[in-house]
Amino acid sequence: VVTHRRILLACGLFSTSGVTSEDIVYNALPLYHSAALLIGVHGCIMQGATFALRAKFSASQFWVDCRKYNVTVIQYIGEVLRYLCNVPKKDSDGDHRVRIAIGNGLRTDVWREFVRRFGDIHIFEFYAATEGNIGFINYTGKVGSVGRVNYFHKKMVHYELIRYDVEKDEPVRDENGYCIRVPKGEAGLLICKITPLSPFTGYAGAKSQTEKKKLTNVFQKGDLYFNSGDLLVVDQDNFIYFHDRVGDTFRWKGENVATTEVADILGLISFVQEVNVYGVPVPGHEGRIGMASIRLKEGCEFNGEQTYRHVVDYLPNYARPRFVRIQDAIEITATFKHRKVQLVEEGFKPAVIRDGLYFLDDKEKMYVPMTQDIYNAINNNSLKL
Ligand SMILES: *[C@@H]1O[C@H](CO)[C@@H](O)[C@H](O)[C@H]1NC(C)=O
Ligand SMILES: *[C@@H]1O[C@H](CO)[C@@H](O)[C@H](O)[C@H]1NC(C)=O
Ligand SMILES: *[C@@H]1O[C@H](CO)[C@@H](O)[C@H](O)[C@H]1NC(C)=O
Repeated sequence: VVTHRRILLACGLFSTSGVTSEDIVYNALPLYHSAALLIGVHGCIMQGATFALRAKFSASQFWVDCRKYNVTVIQYIGEVLRYLCNVPKKDSDGDHRVRIAIGNGLRTDVWREFVRRFGDIHIFEFYAATEGNIGFINYTGKVGSVGRVNYFHKKMVHYELIRYDVEKDEPVRDENGYCIRVPKGEAGLLICKITPLSPFTGYAGAKSQTEKKKLTNVFQKGDLYFNSGDLLVVDQDNFIYFHDRVGDTFRWKGENVATTEVADILGLISFVQEVNVYGVPVPGHEGRIGMASIRLKEGCEFNGEQTYRHVVDYLPNYARPRFVRIQDAIEITATFKHRKVQLVEEGFKPAVIRDGLYFLDDKEKMYVPMTQDIYNAINNNSLKL
C-alpha cells in the first residue's frame, strides 16, 4: 500500500542528495520498482528535474546514454554498478557529467572501483524498503556504510537491532520472552517501532502477509514493531552497514555466514567476474554448507589452488565455500538481485549439474573437480565436512 506520505518520503531522497531542477536523471531500472517510480519519477517531478528513461538496462550503452543526454544523476540498485565496472576499460570512461549516484545494494569493493574508474561521483547509498517504516542514507562519506546512528533520527524513529536465530528463522527471546538488543559489532535483525511517525501501511491483498511482518511483545507486553527481514551491523563508531537478508544468511557449524561477505571476498580473486553465494543442505548435517556460483572473467579459467589460498587467507573455516560452481551467466531478478532458490535446490549433485563443479579438498589444499565418488562419500558420511 503506497500512500501519498510514502511517496513524499521517497521524493525526499533526491532533495537530501542535492538533486536540483538543473539535473538530468538517468534511469534504466524497471518502473514497477520503487527506486525508479517513487524515487526517480516522483523525485524528478518534485525537484523539477529532467528524467531520461531507458526501457532496459544495458551496461555497454550506459555511458553512451549519459553523454548523449548530458546526464548528471544516475540511479542504481543491486548489481548494476558492478556490471558497469565489468565492462572493459575505455579511454572515454571519465567523459561524462555524472556527479551523483543514488541507490542501494552497492558492495564496498565495487564502490571503490566505481569511483576510481569513473571519477569523482558522489555516491548516496541508502537503505530502505518500499513497505518499511525505517530508512538510512550514507551522509558521511564512509565507504560501504548506509549511514550513521543519529541522535535526532533515533529520537523520532525507534529502531533496534535484535539477536536473530538464523536456524529457527526467528528472533532470539530471553527467559521472559523478550527480544535481545545486539552489542555494537554484531549483526542483528533491524526492527522499527510502528508509530504515527513511522507507520507500517502493510500490503494490499492477503492480510496474513501484513501480519507476518509485525513483531509484538518485543521489549514489553503489547509493543509493536515492523520486522525488516534484514540483518544490519552498527560498528564501534556508529556507522551502519547492511549485512544480509535474513533468508540468505545461513548457519554452518554453529556460526552465521553472511552471503554478502563471502561474495565480497571471492569477488577479489583476479579471474572472478561475479559471485553468488548461498548455503545448501547436506544429508546428516545441521545447517547449510557454503557454496558459490562464479562467473569467470572473459578468457579466464578457474584456478583451484589460487581460490583455495585466497579463501583460506580471508575467510574462517566455517565460511569457506565448500563447493564452487562455474556458470556462464548468473541469473538475476528483475530488480538486479541474484537468484538463489534454484541453485540451492540443485545443490552439489554432480549427476545433475552440467556446469563445472569443484570441491574444497583440505588434504590437497585446493579446489578439485567434484566427482560422484566425493558425492557418495559425503552422503555415506565417510568424508567429513
Ligand atoms: C548537452 O549539452 C551540450 C553542451 O552544453 C548541448 O549542446 C546539447 O544540446 C545537450 N544535449 C541535450 C540532449 O540536451
Ligand atoms: C557516501 O560515501 C561516499 C564515499 O565514497 C562519499 O563520497 C559520499 O560523500 C557519501 N555520501 C554523502 C551523502 O556524504
Ligand atoms: C562411501 O562412499 C565411498 C565413495 O563412493 C566408498 O568408497 C565407500 O566405500 C563408502 N563407504 C561406505 C561405508 O559405504
